[in-house]
Amino acid sequence: MEKIQDQFGRSFRTLRISLINTCNFACTYCVCSDAPIKQEEPEGLIFSVDQLLQVIKELHQRLGLRTIRLTGGEPLLYKQLSPLIQGIIRLGIKDIKLTTNGLLLGRMAAELRSSGLLSVNVSLDAMDPAVFFKITRRDRLSQVLDGIKAAKAVGLNVKLNAVIIRRQNECQVLPLLRFAFQQKIKVRFLELMPMGHLFGTEKSDLFSQQELLALISEHYTITKQPKENAATATYWKTSEGEFGIIANESEPFCGDCDRLRLDMKGNIYGCLSSNQPIPIRDLTQGVHFDRQLEKALRQKQTLKFTGSNLSMLDIGG
Ligand code: GTP
Ligand code: 5AD
Ligand code: SF4
Repeated sequence: MEKIQDQFGRSFRTLRISLINTCNFACTYCVCSDAPIKQEEPEGLIFSVDQLLQVIKELHQRLGLRTIRLTGGEPLLYKQLSPLIQGIIRLGIKDIKLTTNGLLLGRMAAELRSSGLLSVNVSLDAMDPAVFFKITRRDRLSQVLDGIKAAKAVGLNVKLNAVIIRRQNECQVLPLLRFAFQQKIKVRFLELMPMGHLFGTEKSDLFSQQELLALISEHYTITKQPKENAATATYWKTSEGEFGIIANESEPFCGDCDRLRLDMKGNIYGCLSSNQPIPIRDLTQGVHFDRQLEKALRQKQTLKFTGSNLSMLDIGG
């Protein structure tokens, strides 16, 4: 079957699945301050694991997927994670990654690795417990650090994601860098994106790529690395290790984006900044799938990220 491309000739090689829209953290940049913190998987998930695997299979046949990234909300709250990972591998997709806040990694890393998971990106915005608490609204820094070490110990490839916000945690850039170098893992600093409740607000909290580079250059000699195709991050080398920056605002990287999204309600999004879900719930009955999929892919038309009124809880980045 000929693989589907969008109108800019972009192919879809990565499927990001938001498994769940609840989270056991409540990061200030993701949810409003009065949002409830959920410890549990929500009721009424639209797909069983078998149905979800059927959806992935159908997409894989039409797109030729290389990578599945499992996200949330917090994907470690999804109870059927290991059977899902094993099922995806049986479909012939071996590159399975996960983005997590790391809270439950300490106890789950070994099982996930033996199910076939290869990589985890762990959100870590501070090395100082008070700053960590201010951002995540949970006093759980030490568990996250233990989770990162456990993931490394079982052989998962680990990267860190740190969203840097002016005045809140810009003081954490160097401590995070030092921790990453010491652990021999890469940290990526993320520019704050106007997602969810931040959609349409002033950009005064943005700590830009340029500012990040100026700050880091005061302490390290840095050399820019060539950017890989479809990558979110650009990396810089230092004598102690590499770090990355995901510059959604300063340098949108939509032009070679290869990502398609599926949320827990059975909607496909052709773009992170799209607020027009395409429901494919009927897929399991085999109804109108090709037409709906084509429609979703046509919608992937932006070449500049413009923000979204959905948050990471809904579509998982
Ligand atoms: P790897 O490079 O494989 O580690 O994956 P990744 O960087 O795509 O994964 P991760 O889930 O860690 O995402 C990190 C951040 O990249 C997200 O929070 C977003 O800021 C950004 N991102 C991911 N996908 C997109 C996208 O399609 N468009 C834009 N503008 N940003 C994205
Ligand atoms: N801006 C930038 N990054 C965000 N994340 C969640 N919300 C935002 C936002 N508004 C990050 C999380 C996680 C990744 C998937 O997205 O910290 O690392
Ligand atoms: Fe949870 Fe991630 Fe949102 Fe933080 S950014 S509240 S960890 S989904």
